[in-house]
Amino acid sequence: MDLIGLFPTWYEPLIGSGWVIGLIATIHVLFSHTAVGAAILFAVLAYIGVRDDRPELIDFIKKYGLFLLVFSYILGSITGPGIWYSTTVGSPRGISALIHNFVWKWATEWVFFVIEVIGVYMMVYMAGKLDRRTYMKVAIIFGLTSYTTMLAIVGILSFMMMPGRPEQWFAEGGYLYGFYGPNTFAQLAIRTAFMFTMTAVVGGIVAAGLKDAAFKQWLLRRLAIVGGLSAIVGMSLYPWYLGTLPGIAHLVMENRLPDYFTPSILIVLGAMLAYFALTFIRPKIVTATLAGFATLAILVLGLWPGETVRESVRKPYIAGQYLYSNQVIGHDVPGMGVKSEIPALQKAGFTQAHIFWPESQREITRENAPEVGRSLALTACSNCHSLSDTGIRPLKNYFPKQADIEGIKTYLLGALSTGNTMYMPQIPLKEAEAEALAVYIASLNDPDAVSRYRAESQTAQLDHRSDEEDK
Ligand code: HEC
Repeated sequence: MDLIGLFPTWYEPLIGSGWVIGLIATIHVLFSHTAVGAAILFAVLAYIGVRDDRPELIDFIKKYGLFLLVFSYILGSITGPGIWYSTTVGSPRGISALIHNFVWKWATEWVFFVIEVIGVYMMVYMAGKLDRRTYMKVAIIFGLTSYTTMLAIVGILSFMMMPGRPEQWFAEGGYLYGFYGPNTFAQLAIRTAFMFTMTAVVGGIVAAGLKDAAFKQWLLRRLAIVGGLSAIVGMSLYPWYLGTLPGIAHLVMENRLPDYFTPSILIVLGAMLAYFALTFIRPKIVTATLAGFATLAILVLGLWPGETVRESVRKPYIAGQYLYSNQVIGHDVPGMGVKSEIPALQKAGFTQAHIFWPESQREITRENAPEVGRSLALTACSNCHSLSDTGIRPLKNYFPKQADIEGIKTYLLGALSTGNTMYMPQIPLKEAEAEALAVYIASLNDPDAVSRYRAESQTAQLDHRSDEEDK
């Protein structure tokens, strides 16, 4: 029999694994984008500083650089590996798919990242010590390497949505087909725009503390222009980005986006533009606290919904349009020698094909059905549906409050097993597995469902016996 190399499932009870990854990743987006935007800002400021002989600009780079060291580099370097740790346990085959496709791209990114880290230290500790021209050159190298890290990562991220050139990549494999595609460039453009917005807002925290009133006003006005323009450019790139998404993504967007999404994005954009307009007209009002709040607003109202959407529209896949979010390989990729695991699951079911399946749950009985059902939900659903009341798309909310085991079972066999859903993977279930999962799902909304199910089985046995007695 074909066994499938699925890993044991990691699950965080209250929020589900998806949100753990999401929380860490969203914070990381703020740190990393601010870092790249600031690196480019430094290059420009260093250039103007040298050209116009303005030492206060170098001084500001030093201050912002020190702030970045803590804000972006230390916290970013904690959340970065945090993404590695959480995805390794939460989505082991997802991250493995990315590594197998892009290991050298990633190595390249790390080389540039090391240069970038040295760069930020040099920006802070060499300011005023290096002669100005050399300092400017270092700033430019810092800006370019920093942007290169973004370039590499966005290619990998966009592969999660879909391979750059899906047809060629499926047929021939190869990392260039996986890496470069319309979505890569649209995503890069949008991220580039919004990273300047973040840099301008976070820069306000540092600029607010400047002593020289005239310089502070000059700088805050420039930051307001950069921030306001980049927010408008970022927004106007949105249709281009949407146009590069696969068809299924549009379906999800139209039907399944959280209600708060559009208002939240519009509010945060409107508020950002108002904030920049206000700081342009009256730079005096900017304090570190105000800019801090604006940063928080971007994080909570802008980045979180944005990342939620990126996660949602990728469904049912986690990477490359062949690996499902629940870690099962859903399609052949001839170019990469990858084979779909759906046939093996159809033949043997999760309970037989999964290597790490608990031995005591390989046979399904009326007694162990609820536990087997829970294991099935963990394995097949929990990457996208939390099993508790909170977290990502709680599973219990998608089924009627009145437990109806037969009805749930029919749905599981009719829709999920056959792959007759729009944004969910095909999840082949054996009849006994579907029943076990149905019992578990019913028990989420109605704790008595299990005892009723077991009682039913006894009545069934009694009926059976009395049938025999009748004969
Ligand atoms: C790849 C991620 C993914 C997996 C795995 C997954 N679902 Fe879903 N499911 C979704 C999404 C996305 C929706 C749309 C819900 C929304 O966004 O409000 C959904 C909706 C549903 C619905 C509502 C009906 C519908 O078609 O919209 C049910 C019922 C459901 N899921 C059950 C399950 C069960 C049971 C499992 C495991 C056997 C499962 N799902 C596995 C992503 C997934």
